[in-house]
Parts: sequence; structure tokens; C-alpha cells
Amino acid sequence: MNRFKDKTVIVTGAASGIGRGVAKRFAEEGANLVICDIDQAKLEHAAREFEPESMLALHCDVSNFGQIESVVKEAVKRFEALHVIVNNAGVAPEGSALDVSFDDWNKTIATNLTGVFFGCRAASPELLKTRGCIVNTASVSGLGADWGLCAYNAAKGGVVNLTRSIALDFGRRGVRANSVCPSLTETGMTKDMLEDEALVAKFMERLPLGRVAQPADIAAVVAFLSSDDARFVNGVNMPVDGGVTASNGQPPQE
Ligand SMILES: NC(=O)c1ccc[n+]([C@@H]2O[C@H](COP(=O)([O-])OP(=O)(O)OC[C@H]3O[C@@H](n4cnc5c(N)ncnc54)[C@H](O)[C@@H]3O)[C@@H](O)[C@H]2O)c1
Repeated sequence: MNRFKDKTVIVTGAASGIGRGVAKRFAEEGANLVICDIDQAKLEHAAREFEPESMLALHCDVSNFGQIESVVKEAVKRFEALHVIVNNAGVAPEGSALDVSFDDWNKTIATNLTGVFFGCRAASPELLKTRGCIVNTASVSGLGADWGLCAYNAAKGGVVNLTRSIALDFGRRGVRANSVCPSLTETGMTKDMLEDEALVAKFMERLPLGRVAQPADIAAVVAFLSSDDARFVNGVNMPVDGGVTASNGQPPQE
């Protein structure tokens, strides 16, 4: 498939995990790729995977509007137009409402929610010109909460409704907005957790497909939502969770 030939795509948080997988998928489908991340060393490493003539790697903290705005400007300067932004960068510090630190709360909201809003705001003038689209990385934690992740749940819930909001406001002007809502995916964010064998065994019991997701599983759905195949899909927060949100939380009956 070559659905993104002559299209320019920005992916935030593209140096690792899901963002990196998403960038790879777009590159495989012919896109001009703009990858950005706050971690310069990891970004440089990730950039080596892509053809330099169709890729731009830019340092960017998505919680800083000026920085994501510059990414959009650089993307258009280099590739002439912007067709897709994937607002994917995120962090996941632990803590309940009783013990999450104010710093962690503020950083999580600034990155995971305000960062997504900033990405949408910065990209939308260009997307309105090309009738492009937005895909946000939300989470199943934005559809139903996870234990001990109060700031994360709040931010992801915000992304879910921000996505609907943008879908309504921009739809008639030709710009679609959707999100993907992954469940547990093997990435840098979950590395430590996935090394805890007892915890993983507990988790596995409740995963209908019997495995955690890989970044490529999420990337395939991001690519679909960004493509013309999804031309009538707007305002959807799509679980990419192997059936986790279909469950009532009971362990399987043997
Ligand atoms: N891994 C999972 O189980 C899972 C599940 C659901 C949703 N998600 C979401 O997927 C997205 C990607 O996470 P991942 O699992 O690939 O984690 P990851 O840690 O592997 O990748 C996240 C990337 O975002 C970057 N980043 C962090 N703060 C940033 C900022 N302020 N500006 C720019 N870049 C920044 C990091 O440097 C990193 O490269 C996140 O939004 C996360 O919440 C992950």
C-alpha cells in the first residue's frame, strides 16, 4: 500500500514506542515524514531508520506551543504542505489523587492534554488548506480509568473529548479528527512493568487476545484513520485493545 505518497505527516513522540512504529508505517506507505521528540539522542537514533530525503527530525517539546508551531512551519517549508498530524507524545507518572505530586500532575496535563491541543492548534491552519486530518493517541485509560494513574486518566479523558470537539468544529471544513485508544502496548513507557513476570501473568488472564499490543498493531490503525479509507470516520475514539474494553472485568471462566 502506498496511501501516503506525496503526503506529509508529523508524528510527535516519534523517537520511541508507538510513535516510532507509527512513523515507520507512514514511511512504508510513502509519506514525507516529520518526526519530533523531546529526547534528542533517541530522536537521532530513530531518524537513522528513515530515508533522509523524505524525512525531517526535529527536537520539540509538545508542551511548548512555539516549538510545535515551528515544527509545522519547518514541515511546510521542506515538503510544501501538511496532510496529517499524529499527536502521540506522552508520559505516564503514577499516583492517585491523594499522592500524585503536583509536578507530575502538571507535567502530565501539559504533555498529554495541552500538548495534544497545541499540536491540533498549530497544525490546523495547514490541515484546513489540504483537507487533512488529525489522529491523537489517547488510551483505554481515557475511556475507563486505570488504577493509580489519576493524572494520566484525566489527561487521556480530556484527549477523548478534545478529539470529538475538533471533529465537530472542523468537519465541515474538510478536516477529520479521530483518536486511537491502545491498551497495554510494549514500549519504553511499559518496559519496567512488562519485566515484572507476576504482574504480566495477572494481566494476561484478562487480555482477550492473550497478548499485549505491539507498536505496529497501533500504527496500522493510525494509518487507516489517516487515510482516505477512513474518509467518513470522524470524532471516533477507537479502542485498539484486543477486546479489553469489551470485557466486564471478570476473569475468564475455564
Ligand atoms: N504503552 C502503552 O501501553 C500505551 C497505552 C495506551 C496509550 N499509550 C500512549 O501512547 C503514546 C506513546 O507512548 P509509548 O507507549 O510509545 O511510550 P514511549 O515512552 O515509548 O514513547 C513516548 C515518547 O514521547 C516522548 N515525549 C515525552 N514527553 C514529550 C514532550 N513533552 N514532547 C515531545 N515528546 C515527548 C518521549 O521522549 C518518548 O520518545 C503516549 O501518548 C501514551 O500515553 C501508551
